[in-house]
Amino acid sequence: MSQATQSLTHARLTRDIDSPNLSTLDGYRAWGGYRALEKAISMTPAEISQAVSDSGLAGRGGAGFPTGRKWSLMPADKHPRYLVCNADESEPGTFKDRYLLERNPHLVLEGIVIAARAVEADQAFIYVRGEYAEIQSIIQRCLDEAVVAGLVGDDIMGSGWNLDVVMHGGAGAYICGEENALLESLAGVRGRPRPKPPFFPAAIGVYDAPTALNNVETLANVPFIVEHGADEFKSVGTEKSTGTRLLCLSGHVKRPGVYEVPQGIPMTALIDDLGGGMLDGKTLKAVQPGGSSSQFLTAKQVKECAMDAESIRALGSMAGSGAIIVIAEDQCIVEYTSRLADFYYRESCGKCTPCREGTFWLSRVVRRIEAGAGRSADIDLMVDVCNNIDGKSLCALGEAAAWPIRSSVQQFTDDFRAHIDAHACPFHDQPVNPAIPVARVETPRENPHPAEPPQIPPGDQANTARRPGPMGDKAARLLGLDDDG
Ligand SMILES: Cc1cc2nc3c(=O)[nH]c(=O)nc-3n(C[C@H](O)[C@H](O)[C@H](O)COP(=O)(O)O)c2cc1C
Ligand code: SF4
Repeated sequence: MSQATQSLTHARLTRDIDSPNLSTLDGYRAWGGYRALEKAISMTPAEISQAVSDSGLAGRGGAGFPTGRKWSLMPADKHPRYLVCNADESEPGTFKDRYLLERNPHLVLEGIVIAARAVEADQAFIYVRGEYAEIQSIIQRCLDEAVVAGLVGDDIMGSGWNLDVVMHGGAGAYICGEENALLESLAGVRGRPRPKPPFFPAAIGVYDAPTALNNVETLANVPFIVEHGADEFKSVGTEKSTGTRLLCLSGHVKRPGVYEVPQGIPMTALIDDLGGGMLDGKTLKAVQPGGSSSQFLTAKQVKECAMDAESIRALGSMAGSGAIIVIAEDQCIVEYTSRLADFYYRESCGKCTPCREGTFWLSRVVRRIEAGAGRSADIDLMVDVCNNIDGKSLCALGEAAAWPIRSSVQQFTDDFRAHIDAHACPFHDQPVNPAIPVARVETPRENPHPAEPPQIPPGDQANTARRPGPMGDKAARLLGLDDDG
């Protein structure tokens, strides 16, 4: 890395991240690890929470909620109470938590133990994405090391304080990263969101007890705050977006990867300097600045954008999970949007109607546009479907589907229009994602509730496990998908 690019980064969580010993207890201690825990044990829980509040640390999992405030919402003196670390990391484009857990796992564990002390938790859990099998073994090995060393378990560091930490393998679904679905899954139930209110985890969390739930990177910042103080933490970043952020840069750049940067650096510096510029000298078309759920920024907006929550919000998008997906001019944005729509359709848990039905129809309509069978009304139709999901679904997965798709249609209307007018994809001879005919529900008049499920035509290869519900036929007619789909 050149000196210029080095000054754009600020390695706090990622200092010495390539050192092979860092992931071991001895290596981590030699690095300065567990000094913060020692200090935290000499502090009261209220003092730790105050330091975290003063630091301005905001959640790194997606919503950016202030961490100290979240902890303060837990009802006092109600036990048992829990601390949960969310390591589900399933947002497409996001791979920073894996990076930390793989290379500096004791830092995350130290953050969990200190945070548990701050919220006076009786037990802590780390919920690790189902597909991260290797990470699960790393965490378990670290936990075993920490228990033997008296850093977790009974009488931590001779203080008389006990904390059990349990690693829990995730259920392998994107929705299990949503806090309430995660808590259900952790309790052994199918991972589906519960309505908020009343199920705010701070008050009604794991086993219906008060629970603080935080992202891996959020918790990994806690040891630094305790050891060095809130002012030192705030000495980098912007006034409102304090500290560093681990940014996952992916897509059409020369050097994709995880970069720890002070919040507020220009997005162009991230792409051009740290990322080495566009792959093969291509022209930038768009960026998703906060994971696959974030609204697209155009190349013009990218030039004005800084990497902090407020600047990204001012441009109509969000910093989300810190995943910056860079898209070049020669990428068919309709194909890309079609893949997004398929992802959200497949990952929707189906519990509420706007998301279950809306993601299904979005996936169908955008596929048909890409395949050259789009209709002129489809652009307005997609925006309308998105508007009927946004703000009307039970959890934020609905919005996560609606926001990027609506912004794609609105920011790149010409691309969608070109597909519709040409009855083909201008980028590919063959559509990458074929149109999917909608299953017709042949309901005999005398029996409106057939015992047998409707048959899916052979062409419908995507997700045959989920089919349009009983309203499918009517919705298909309304959407104009009942004939040539
Ligand atoms: C569909 C969906 C998936 C999510 N996946 C994750 C995830 O994998 N990791 C995560 O930390 N937060 C995820 N979140 C956000 C969590 O619900 C929650 O806001 C976050 O874990 C809180 O931690 P923080 O305050 O430290 O950011 C997801 C949210 C939604 C709606
Ligand atoms: S918004 Fe989607 S994922 Fe969330 S509860 Fe409703 S159907 Fe399930």
